[in-house]
Amino acid sequence: MPDVIAYGGDWNPEQWPEETWQQDVALMREAGVNRVSVGIFSWSSLEPAEGVFDFGWFDRVMDLLAENGIGANLATPTAAPPPWFADAYPEALPVDADGRRLHHGSRQGFCPSSPIYREKALRIAEQVALRYRDHPALVMWHVHNEYGCHNARCYCDTSAAAFRAWLRAHHSSLEALNDAWGTAFWSQRYSEWAQILPPRATPSFPNPGQQLDFRRFSSDALVELYVAERDLLKRLTPDVPATTNLMAGAHWDMDCWAFAAELDVVSTDHYLIGARRERHIDLAFAADYARSLNGGRPWLLMEHSTSAVNWQPRNLAKTPGELRRNSLAHLARGADGIMFFQWRQSRAGAEKWHSAMLPHAGTDTRIWREVTALGAELAGLSAVAGSTVSADVALLVDHSSVWAQDHPAQPTTELDPVEEAKRWHAALWRAGVTCDLAHPEGDLSGYRLVVVPQLYLVSDAGAANLEEFARRGGVVAVGPYSGIVDEHDRVRLGGYPGAWRDLLGVRAEEFLPLAEPIRLASGASGSGWSEAVRVTTAKVLDTYASGEPAWTRNEFGDGAAHYLTTLFDDAALARVLAAACREAGVAPAATTVPGVEVVRRAHPDGRSFLFAINHTEREAAVMVAGGGSVTVAAGDVVVVPG
Ligand code: GAL
Ligand code: ZN
Repeated sequence: MPDVIAYGGDWNPEQWPEETWQQDVALMREAGVNRVSVGIFSWSSLEPAEGVFDFGWFDRVMDLLAENGIGANLATPTAAPPPWFADAYPEALPVDADGRRLHHGSRQGFCPSSPIYREKALRIAEQVALRYRDHPALVMWHVHNEYGCHNARCYCDTSAAAFRAWLRAHHSSLEALNDAWGTAFWSQRYSEWAQILPPRATPSFPNPGQQLDFRRFSSDALVELYVAERDLLKRLTPDVPATTNLMAGAHWDMDCWAFAAELDVVSTDHYLIGARRERHIDLAFAADYARSLNGGRPWLLMEHSTSAVNWQPRNLAKTPGELRRNSLAHLARGADGIMFFQWRQSRAGAEKWHSAMLPHAGTDTRIWREVTALGAELAGLSAVAGSTVSADVALLVDHSSVWAQDHPAQPTTELDPVEEAKRWHAALWRAGVTCDLAHPEGDLSGYRLVVVPQLYLVSDAGAANLEEFARRGGVVAVGPYSGIVDEHDRVRLGGYPGAWRDLLGVRAEEFLPLAEPIRLASGASGSGWSEAVRVTTAKVLDTYASGEPAWTRNEFGDGAAHYLTTLFDDAALARVLAAACREAGVAPAATTVPGVEVVRRAHPDGRSFLFAINHTEREAAVMVAGGGSVTVAAGDVVVVPG
């Protein structure tokens, strides 16, 4: 593990005259920068015409970094093919569901299944690797950039052929595919593989199985592109770790679990969404997700912003101190690197209004002062590097389930599985309980409590995994519209929720989505959803006015399973989760004070760091589990070694 916290950002020197580069590295040193990501969008500068390479300028960039003791996350520049590529190979440009071919002039203008794109991408990646494989600045491969951020799904003929090949590999026969997709419905039965298309625009709802498989195929196509580049890099530099920056928690088109399995170290990007209340809780969700994707090991925050972004309707600047709180919150949740987009704020181009470490106004700025102070602080926290966060609670998320539920014909439009996962996570955050995210088929044996806010689709293996967890003594809490369909989005028959009727001890015969919130016997309110449910073996803990169950608890094996049949309001959800935590023996790291975040990182040898982050405007004191109290000034962060 590294013995320092990586600190820096994307450096894009090609946007600037060479005279500024010396100043850049001098200022990087002043700010405590020890790592930058370079070359991400350099393809048109490194290969100005097809097969014509210009590495001289980039040699000087890499040398400058090495001379200044700054490590490089060296990118393969494949996220932004140059105009010559689009010009020569228009068939490799992406096509949307309406059949519109998109043009160059932005970024990620390529079809993920295009063989010619792959050939040209691998060639420039190989050139970069051959040239810099022994360069002293090279620390890590930053493969591509945010796979699928803009071109997650392509509907062109090349993609159609690749989709069919994927389907043949995933369905044993055309008959099996017809069965999985339920093509008897609406006369969709396929008699030849060649008839199958991506779900292009149709007169009415597309086939759900087709749509789901296309989402899976599209994600796999991107993972495959990563693997192709990674394998090439590994051949030339077996010892240099490779990663690509995910968008964990923010962008659900790429299956993060599948990507993570191929990365040497998980890295991710996180941006605050302005309109979101308590946006630091969304940050915690992303950080917890990144840590979980990396199997609990330290991960890398590859990008966040020093202040405003430029892609929201109103791009709010960070308030003084927020940059530090955000950075240390990522660190608290297991990051061993705090990086930004980008080093120097662009003068031109589509992101000139995006904040950076070095603003347009230069070094006599609040942002620069906060950036340099953070660099010094992180240098002082280098003993944190390599330590880990442990959680007793896991929250299940699965992309297939999110994708299946994305089909437009649902019982209600009120349910949003991602928002619901974040709402449950937020309830745990407010209770001071650190939680991991886990895949439904993942190893749950290390947890005491597993929560399932909304998992519409679950495979047989995933269903059995949760049952097994409860059978062995774990406590489970499940929200509505979970366990409803199998992995092909076919309803599990015999009463809802088909996968978990036994586990939950209930049987529902009809969904009753709500138009208005309703009051429960406990005084709590439920919204969005209800169902006509009867208990079989469960006990009822709260009811609708009709007396039908809203919250149930079922003993199962050595454990127990709670079930909510409506979306409990935030306060009521907090009470349910508090009850589940108590029952599971899960306790927060410190007494909970609203708006104060407390997380512990620890080394195997017992050395630990308690992070207390005060997101409020008042001083706060927390009593730490195991003794002692910590006082944190308004907006401040205290790191207590132990
Ligand atoms: C990321 C991307 C960066 C930059 C940033 C702006 O999605 O990787 O290149 O565009 O957003 O917030
Ligand atoms: Zn395509």
